[in-house]
Order: sequence, then structure tokens, then C-alpha cells
Amino acid sequence: MSIDFSNDTLETSPSIVTTSLTREDENEFSLRPKTLREYIGQEKAKGNLSVFIEAARMRQEPLDHVLLYGPPGLGKTTLSGIIANEMGVNIRITSGPAIEKPGDLAALLTNLNENYILFVDEIHRLNRSVEEILYPAMEDYAIDIIIGKGPSANSIRLDLPRFTLIGATTRAGSLSAPLRDRFGVNLRLELYTTEELTQIVTRSAGILNVPIEEDGAVEIARRSRGTPRIANRMLRRVRDFAQVIAGGVITRGVADQALTALEVDYLGLDNVDRRMLRAIIENYNGGPVGLETLAATINEEAITLEDVYEPYLLQNGFLTRTPRGRCVTRKAYEHLGIPFFGQESFT
Ligand code: ADE
Repeated sequence: MSIDFSNDTLETSPSIVTTSLTREDENEFSLRPKTLREYIGQEKAKGNLSVFIEAARMRQEPLDHVLLYGPPGLGKTTLSGIIANEMGVNIRITSGPAIEKPGDLAALLTNLNENYILFVDEIHRLNRSVEEILYPAMEDYAIDIIIGKGPSANSIRLDLPRFTLIGATTRAGSLSAPLRDRFGVNLRLELYTTEELTQIVTRSAGILNVPIEEDGAVEIARRSRGTPRIANRMLRRVRDFAQVIAGGVITRGVADQALTALEVDYLGLDNVDRRMLRAIIENYNGGPVGLETLAATINEEAITLEDVYEPYLLQNGFLTRTPRGRCVTRKAYEHLGIPFFGQESFT
């Protein structure tokens, strides 16, 4: 695949590369660890990464391209920042949907310096024509461009600096095989344990200068669905409650009161989780029901249910996926206080 620049501009539009942080990004940013040593959890990914980083540094080469995948909020962007920091190089951050045309990507790539990292979030959402530019860029550090039009058009190969692509996705299965195969390092991020989240909440509370009791940190951790982004967001809301009703200290009682007020139950399920489980029970007799049908029933997007809600419900045994659709388990009935009469259907 080559790019026709005849009608294109090489300028990178400001929206393609993130230059400004949203409020949430900024909030998150202050809590983000900067080194692998500070990063809590994901021991397998961290262990492997530290070896690859050290080896690349010893060889004075860029790190091989890295694919990070797993549910949202587990620290893919954070980990990319850490990789850049540990490699001692700069990082450019963009996302699949922001790169609309092949020329956008070409502009990004030609503006990198040697060993830079290009981080593409939601890489499964790159369109096909853009994706094809990436193949020679990843493999040969080069892109092919077409100058001119018609019979006088010429294709020239443009060398790029050697760089590292870090792609992040919530759905590795949606990546095309040619793109997936070009990543030398594949790292799957897992939901965090309560112990790991307790450490993260305690660390974040320290940075935010909020007094927190161990029990309070555990309570927030238990209810954050295995996800640091949720844990840190809850910590901020619990801090508000602590300030107004408990003299500023986060205890288990304050955490419980705040999270109950936010409709997060004692296992971390929120309103959408419960509506989802209840709809399967009440409208589809416990399932199976197709994802699209379920999403329409509760007025949510199928992709949101699949990427954001399902991983935690599946991992914690409230939901099963079968070839005929989603089914709830006996545990879901019990959690919602609905009598369970039937058999669990796992087929
Ligand atoms: N903040 C968000 N994610 C984190 C992690 N994995 N380790 C430490 N602090 C974090």
C-alpha cells in the first residue's frame, strides 16, 4: 500500500496527537506511576517487559513493537508512559479513531525521532487504508508514497527513524492477523486483585494527602471491579464524603456509606451491572440471550456491555458466555435476591 500525497497535507492536525489532557486525564495523571518499580500488579507483564527493556537498552536499539490488550482502565496508557521513561525516550500519544487518513499517519511517523515511541490507543479502530501504511513502517521502518497523479505518478520509499509502536486494545480478537503478527511483544493485562488495588488506593491516597485507614482502602479496593481507574475515581468520591461527614479520614464506614450512596454494591457491581443481570433473569428467564438483544433491552451499547461490564461479571461468576448467548448463574440470582428454581444452562 502506498500513500497519495497529491491532495494531502503533511501537517499533523492537532487533534491527532494528544496535546492537552482532559480533566479526568489530569486527575489520573498525577497518580500514575512513572517507573516499573512503582507500578503495582501485572507481575507477569512487568517481569517480561523489564527483560525486554533492559536487553533493548543494552543493544542500544528501540524496543520491539508492543501490543497491550485487556479491559479498559487497567493501565495500558500508564504502562506505555513507563516504557518510554524506562527506555529514556519520548512518547507520542494518539488513538485509532483520531487517525482518519493514511496521510495523517504518515505525518505522525515522519515526525518521530530515532527510538521514539508512538502509542496508538484503540488500535483495533484504525481503518484498513491507514493500517496498511503501518505494515512496512513496523517491519522495515519505511513508507511508500506516491507523488503526482496518473501516468506521471511516481512511487518513492521514505525511510523512517527506527521507532517503537505500542498498540493498545480492549479486544485483541478484533485486530487483523497481519497487524497482530507484526507486534514482537504481546502483553495481556489482567484484572487486579483486591490486595493489589488496596496497595494502589493506599499509594494514591498518599499522593493526594488523604488520611486513610487500611480497612477503608480494602473496602474501596473490593468494590472497584479489579480496575485501578475505578479505584482512583472512587477514592476521590469517598474523600469528598470523608471530608464532609467524617473529619477527613477515610474509614471502612465512610467508604461503605459513600459507595452505597453511589449505588456501588458490596461486590462492586453498579447500576448497569445489576440492570444487565436482572434483565437476563426477568426478560429472558436467565438466558441465553444475544448481546445485541440484551443491550437493546437495557438501552446500552452492545460494545460497552462487552468491553466494560462483561469482563468483571464473567471473571466473578455472575455471567457465562455460551454459543447461544449470555446466561446468568445461580450466584447472580442470589446476589440480586431473586429465588433460583431452574438449572444453570452452560450450553
Ligand atoms: N495507579 C493506577 N494504576 C496503578 C498501578 N498499576 N500501580 C500503581 N499506581 C497506579
